[in-house]
Order: sequence, then C-alpha cells, then structure tokens
Amino acid sequence: MEPPIVATVDRRSVTALFSRLRTSRGQTDPYPHYAELRSMGDIVPAPWGGHVVTSFGLCEHILRSRDWLVPDARWRQQQGAATRWTAASSREMAQTLPSLNPPEHTHVRKATAAMFDRRSLRALQHVVEKSTETLTGRLSERLHSREADLHTAVSEELPVTVIGKWLGLPPADYARLRELTHEQVFAQELLPSASQLARSDAATEQLRDYFTTLIRQRRARPGSDPVSACLRAWDALEPDREAADKAVHRVVFFVLLAALETTATLLTHSVLHLLQHPRQWHWLRAHPDQVPAAVEESLRFDPPTHVISRIAGPGAAIDGVGVEAGSMVHLLVGAANRDPAQHLEPDTFDVTRRATHLSFSAGMHYCLGASLARQEAVTLVTALLDRFPRLRLARAPEWAPRVAFRRPLTLYVTDSR
Ligand code: HEM
Repeated sequence: MEPPIVATVDRRSVTALFSRLRTSRGQTDPYPHYAELRSMGDIVPAPWGGHVVTSFGLCEHILRSRDWLVPDARWRQQQGAATRWTAASSREMAQTLPSLNPPEHTHVRKATAAMFDRRSLRALQHVVEKSTETLTGRLSERLHSREADLHTAVSEELPVTVIGKWLGLPPADYARLRELTHEQVFAQELLPSASQLARSDAATEQLRDYFTTLIRQRRARPGSDPVSACLRAWDALEPDREAADKAVHRVVFFVLLAALETTATLLTHSVLHLLQHPRQWHWLRAHPDQVPAAVEESLRFDPPTHVISRIAGPGAAIDGVGVEAGSMVHLLVGAANRDPAQHLEPDTFDVTRRATHLSFSAGMHYCLGASLARQEAVTLVTALLDRFPRLRLARAPEWAPRVAFRRPLTLYVTDSR
C-alpha cells in the first residue's frame, strides 16, 4: 500500500531518527535515515513543529510556488524573544537576499545578480584555473610517497582564493574568513544549540566589522572590483549613502557565506564519489567532456545543502489541503534528490545519468553562484584526472555533525604511481 501524503507518525521515532542524523556517524551516510523517513510518507510532522518533506515533486512544487515564502525578518520576530530566530546571527541573516520575500527580494536580487553576469564569470574562469593549478601543484608535493588531505589542501582553499581574488581581499585574511564562515553557518543549521548560536553570533559580529572596514576603504578608493561596482549600482538606486553602504554590506557578507563552505563540500564530494567508483574515474579520463555531467551527478547524489525551509503564505496548500499560514516546512532536498519517483536506482552513483536535482534550490531563490560553483568543480576534477590518474582514497573521510549543511572534514588520498 502507498504511504499517505501527510503521515501520522510516532513523534519519538522521528526524534530518534534526527538525533542519529545529527551525529558525525549519521553524516557519514545520512541516506538510509532519509529512506526510513520516506517510508513514513512524503510529508512527516517534525517533532519540533512544522513538517519535513522528502518527495522531489513536492519539494520542487513548494520552491516554485509563490504561495510559499522564506522566513523573513517579520516572521522571525513573530516567533518571540529567546528563540533561535531572534539571535543576533539570525537577525543579521534576515536582512540578506535569501531571507527576503517579494517585492523586496525582486529589487535586491536584480541589483545583486549584476555581480554574476557572464563577463564577470568568464573573467573568473582564469582565476579558477590559475588557483587550481597552484593548489594541485602543492598537493602533488604533499603526495610525494605519502598520503595527503585533499579536502584541507585543495577543497577548502580554492573557493576562498577565488572569492578573495574576485572581491580583492588580502590573501592574509583568507584563513580567518574561512573559519568565521564555518562558525557562522550554525545559525542556518536545522536545530542549532544555544552554544552553537553563540559561536555564530560572535562570528557574525567579526564578519560585520570586517566588511564595514572593507566598504569604508572601497568608498575612499573605488576600483574596478565587484564591491566598488556594487557600491556604484546601489548609489544609483539609493540616494542615502549610509543605506547604500548597508545594502552592499549585506550582499558581500552573504556572498562570502554562501560561497565558501558549500563549494568546498561540492569539490570534496565530487572527488570522493569518483574515487569510490574507480571505473567511472577511469571512464572520465577517456571522456573529459563528461566531467560536467559527473559534477551534476555528485550534486544530486550527495549535495552540500540538505535542507531548505519555507513558510506557508495565506494561500499555501499541500495536495489540495490548506496549510496554516506561518507554519514551516523543511524541504529535505538531500532526500528528494534520491526520490525513487524521480530517478531510477537513486542510490547508485552514475555519471552517465541525466541528473536532475534541487541542490541549488528552484524558483525565485535559485542560487546565484551555481555557475561559479560548477566552474570550480569541473576545473578541479579535470585537473585531478589529468595530473593524478592513479589517485586513490587512502581512508574513509569524516563529516562534522551537521544536518542542513554537510561538512566533510578530511579527504585523505594517495597517488599510487
Ligand atoms: C556548491 C555550492 C553551492 C550550493 C550547494 C548552493 C546552494 C544554494 C541554495 C540551496 C540556495 C537557495 C536557498 C533557498 O532557496 O532558500 C542558494 C542561494 C544563493 N546562493 Fe548558493 N550555493 C552554492 C554556491 C554559491 C556561490 C559560489 C555563491 C556566490 C559566489 C552563491 C550565492 C548565492 C546567493 C547570492 C543566493 C541567494 C539567492 C536568492 O535568495 O535569491 N552560492 N545557494
């Protein structure tokens, strides 16, 4: 018998399942837990309130529907003081693009999208290639007759180098910015603890100070970099200089947060799944034009972002049944990408399939950095296939105990020449 669309489940079993998912062990392979959740129904009541959705079709429908909204500043305030939604880090996030609803979202997205035009991305390709060459060169030195951690040496370095060069940030700041983004992400996790929120608040404050200084400097000495370009674009839209500075601050702050950890995870996952499937790794050596398809399959099979949240607007309904306005749904895109109703043999990693996924979201909040993230992953996998054809996994990788944002901690490899 088909499971019901909205399941009636034992709260304790769902609580236990999420407790397992929130451990490093659960993150080593979260997919059997998702399958268990799916077997309960397409929509499962979340023990902490709202619902969890695992079906690809429903997740996509909600993401594309105008009846569903993002948790914006007003909604967060309504949740009351002393909730995760009123923490300083959450209030800061509420001002950024992915937390805005129309009409504000439409206006800010248009101004932000100007930074991601084709010309800028083409110019960045050179930076991606040069940085990949330098980092794989360093990896080669480390691999000399021993194992090396590709995640730390390459995946964590490439995104911050690319964004840093793009925004014109001093390389001496990269390590600190990377650590601050890892700390800040806790505010965007599924169920952050009080101590995690405190770490996120502290990181948010440091990032705020950092970008306030940066914007002051770019005001004093404007250049051809995207921060100066963004200031010029906002000055044209916003007569109040202080308001324009704040708008640019939110853009740059969010771009840094959005770009670093997620892309590092994509890089490591793309390499990991190919090394775990050596035949596909070797097949790609003979078919380098298929590397983009392999990156898409990695995005489907094991995406960096696993949960996207939405709030029911006044007209929202699921399967024709009205949903209370203001209630939250957690779209488990990591599970949706493996929905058997969407893909044949969804648990098989297969670079030759035409992978469809929700890893960059869908609808009006679709990721603005998707092309750049893809560019970095394709460039890195191509360079590794070329430079280290006999690359092997040295030991099983480890993941941080997260749920919404997967975070690999290591990827030890050897080059068995
Ligand atoms: C593999 C890497 C990445 C993944 C998996 C990813 C994922 C996502 C997802 C799921 C969303 C939508 C959230 C929602 O619908 O509520 C999003 C939005 C966004 N991402 Fe990415 N992202 C990645 C890389 C990047 C990069 C490299 C940048 C910038 C350089 C970036 C910039 C943005 C921006 C500005 C938005 C907000 C769009 C909006 O709300 O209109 N992302 N990203």
